[in-house]
Amino acid sequence: MKVLVVGSGGREHALCWAIAASPLLTELFCAPGNPGIASVARCVAIGVLDSAALVAFAQTNAIDLVVPGPEAPLVAGLTDAMEAAGIACCGPTKAAAQLEGSKTFAKDVADAAGIPTALWERFEDSEAARAFVRRRGAPIVVKADGLAAGKGVVVAATEDEAIAAIGAMMDSRVFGESGAAVVIEECLTGREVSLFALCDGTDALLLGSARDHKRVGDGDTGPNTGGMGAYSPVPDFPPALEDACLDAIIRPALKEMAHRGMPFRGVLFAGLMLTGEGAKLIEFNVRFGDPECQVLLLGMKSDLLPALQAACDGELRDFDLRRNESAAVAVTMAARGYPEAPERGSVIRGLADAAAIEGVSVFHAATNAGSDGTVLAAGGRVLTICAIAPDLGRARDRAYAGVDAIVWPEGFCRRDIGAGGL
Ligand code: AMP
Ligand code: GLY
Repeated sequence: MKVLVVGSGGREHALCWAIAASPLLTELFCAPGNPGIASVARCVAIGVLDSAALVAFAQTNAIDLVVPGPEAPLVAGLTDAMEAAGIACCGPTKAAAQLEGSKTFAKDVADAAGIPTALWERFEDSEAARAFVRRRGAPIVVKADGLAAGKGVVVAATEDEAIAAIGAMMDSRVFGESGAAVVIEECLTGREVSLFALCDGTDALLLGSARDHKRVGDGDTGPNTGGMGAYSPVPDFPPALEDACLDAIIRPALKEMAHRGMPFRGVLFAGLMLTGEGAKLIEFNVRFGDPECQVLLLGMKSDLLPALQAACDGELRDFDLRRNESAAVAVTMAARGYPEAPERGSVIRGLADAAAIEGVSVFHAATNAGSDGTVLAAGGRVLTICAIAPDLGRARDRAYAGVDAIVWPEGFCRRDIGAGGL
C-alpha cells in the first residue's frame, strides 16, 4: 500500500512510525511532515488545508490510503475531496466532522443518542448568555461553538469570569466566527480520561484510553495547552469501564450519526469526565489526540495499517486489535514561553542519545532542520519523548531518562506526567 499521512506534529510522527512498520506498506509520504518524520516517510511540502494539492498529489502518486492527523482538514472537507477523487481517506466527512467542529452539533447528537453529558444551552445573543449565567451561577463552563485551537473553553469559577468569557468570545470575537454562538454548560467534576475508537460508520473498535495533562505547569497549574503529556493505560479506567463507555457513548453516537445520513468513519475520541454519577461525555474529537496518539500507538501490538483500511471499507466488524501488556508515557518538551509566546530557533541536541535508551521513542512535534544538520525548535510543543515499559512507574522513569538526555536549555517539560496514575 502507498500511504499519505497528513500533518506535521508528534501525533503524525507516531502515525508514520507505526505505519512504516507495517509489512503491507510499499511507500509512505507525509504532507508536510517534519525532520523527524523524514526518517520514516518522504515529506512533501503541501499544507494540511490545501485539499486540491493533496488530492492531486494522491492521484499522481497512486496513493491507496490517506490518513489525516489533525481536525482542521477534516472539518474543512478533506475526506470528501479525496473520496470524490476515488481515494480512500481514514477520517470523517465534513458533515461527520461537525462532531468536533460544532459544539452545538455534538451536544445535539449526544442528547438524541441518550449519551450522558453535561446539561447545556446554546446562545447566539451575548445579553441572553450573560442573563443565563447570572441565573445559573458559577462554576459554569462557556464554550465557543466553533473550532478555537483548543482554547475556546473557559471553566469559570465565578460569574464574572464567565461573563468576561462571553464578552471576549461573542462581542470581541477573539476566536472570530467560532464565537458567533456559545454553548454554556453545567460544570462537571471528577477525573478526566480520553477514550479512542476506530469507527467504520457502523462498528467501533477500541483503540485504547489515555490521560492527557492539559495545563502547562506541574500539579495542573497555569494555562491550558494542547497537551503536555499522557499515559496509558489509565489505572482508574480499567478495560471493563472502557467497554462500558464504548457501549454507552461511542456506539450510540455512531448509530445516531448513521441515522442522520452522516456515518462516522475514522478515529472517534471521546473526552470523558469520571463523575460520581458515572462517566459523562465532555466532548467529541474526530481524530487521535496529541500526545495521546503517541502512547496508544506505542502500546499497540497489532498492525495499524490494515485496521485503518478496514475502517474505510466498513469492515471493522470482525477485526481485532491487540494491545501490549505494557504501559506507555509521553512527555511533551515545549519551547520556553509556550503557550503564550514560544521562542523559536534554538538548537536541540542529544536526540539520538535519548532514542538509544531502552523503550524510548522520540517523536518530533515542531522542529526544523538547521543548515548544518542540527535540529531547531520551530513551535510551541517541540518534541514528545515517549517510553514503554512493563509498568507505568518504569515507563515514567524511562521517559524522563529520555528527557534528561536531550540537551536543550531553551526547552522545558512537566515533571509529573503519569504521577497521578501510580
Ligand atoms: P474541550 O476543549 O472541550 O476539551 O475542553 C477543554 C477542557 O475544559 C476539558 O478537557 C475539561 O477539562 C474542561 N471542560 C470542558 N467542559 C467541561 C464541563 N462541562 N465541566 C467541567 N470541565 C469541562
Ligand atoms: N491532547 C488533546 C487533544 O489532542 O485534543
